[in-house]
Amino acid sequence: MLIEIGSRRGGFLAHLAERNPDAECIGIEYRATWAREARESARRRGLDNLRYICADAREVVRHLLMPEEVDEVYVLFPDPWHKKRHLPRRLLQPGFLRDLSRIMKRGAPLYILTDIADYARCIERDLLEVADLEPLPESLWPDESDWGPSRKDRYPRLPEEVVIRVFRRRPVHLAAGS
Ligand SMILES: C[S@@+](CC[C@H](N)C(=O)[O-])C[C@H]1O[C@@H](n2cnc3c(N)ncnc32)[C@H](O)[C@@H]1O
Repeated sequence: MLIEIGSRRGGFLAHLAERNPDAECIGIEYRATWAREARESARRRGLDNLRYICADAREVVRHLLMPEEVDEVYVLFPDPWHKKRHLPRRLLQPGFLRDLSRIMKRGAPLYILTDIADYARCIERDLLEVADLEPLPESLWPDESDWGPSRKDRYPRLPEEVVIRVFRRRPVHLAAGS
């Protein structure tokens, strides 16, 4: 199972679903208009391995998905919430990352892209706080061309500086405190 969190209109996940016809692909998007649009577009493209859940990803990850169920997780350009008083709204925080790691299979990768340097630093710090996640060696990163259209095609106005973080759930279970 491949999941994308914050899938918006679903363009990226539709490409993944096309390239991985045997994988179950799930987009989680809490804005109903976008989730509905994404579902319609998947239906028109005949992608029956692609589903969308319209809900808060924090609830879905915590209550709907099973432990060690997910093979790959994508979080592309999560909302940065720049204002100081809005920082608690940021999705990628240690508690959520811990919940996320539980639904990932051992060794499963978590791909995160952001063009906001400050958020990238916070995400990196928070990822390193989760004992069950570790950075994926760069030599094991997939070629981004495998993800479908290039980032520039998908986001023509994106600045050059995009930070990519790839972590994975540790392949081997760590004893508590280790
Ligand atoms: C900045 S957009 C990025 C969209 C898409 N990933 C992209 O790269 O174009 C962030 C998306 O995450 C969704 N989102 C934010 N918080 C969410 C949450 N807690 N649960 C589900 N979706 C969420 C927003 O509605 C929005 O579609």
